[in-house]
Amino acid sequence: MKNIVILISGSGSNMLAIVQAAKRENWAAKYQARVAAVISNKADAKGLALAEREGIATEALDHKAFASREAFDAALAQRIDRHATAEAPPLVLLAGFMRILTSDFVNHYAGRLVNIHPSLLPAFAGLNTHQRAIDAGCKVAGATVHLVTPELDHGPILAQAVVPVLQGDTADALAARVLTQEHLIYPQAVVKLLQNQ
Ligand code: GAR
Repeated sequence: MKNIVILISGSGSNMLAIVQAAKRENWAAKYQARVAAVISNKADAKGLALAEREGIATEALDHKAFASREAFDAALAQRIDRHATAEAPPLVLLAGFMRILTSDFVNHYAGRLVNIHPSLLPAFAGLNTHQRAIDAGCKVAGATVHLVTPELDHGPILAQAVVPVLQGDTADALAARVLTQEHLIYPQAVVKLLQNQ
């Protein structure tokens, strides 16, 4: 069995989409994979309750309790690596995990650390992607699922979804439109990874 560990910081809607796809599509039987744990750097992340309701083990690891980014990342990696199985190391999915990760952490998970970013990368890496897309006069926006490399919001693209930017769009309206697509492409991209492994 291959364990999947999902890292979140907030509402966890992408995490939930992945957990529900895994159940609906029976990833355990098809790909010998299961979502083993959801870890948040914020104890009050709404997504933790959602994960618990789905019967997934949850954990909170407060980054503020650590003196450095390196110390937090090392503790996080330790928690994640508990989910290694005899067959495989865990696949790690960032789903609204709002922490910049150290190169050491990223390199440790090379090829099995995935992120979803709410823009059509390489455009609009970083924060406030939707407002920046509106301000730039973009006619389309979207989301990108990509393998994580040490450079922020870079790395090989696994999937993208495109949505229109509508006249008079607000960042919130555009974010909601993009998010519905995120919930489709993230589980699909994970399935492709599982099929190729
Ligand atoms: C999603 O839109 C995701 O793409 C974004 O945060 C949101 C999390 O929502 N991620 C980033 O901005 C990462 N830089 P969710 O917690 O409901 O999945």
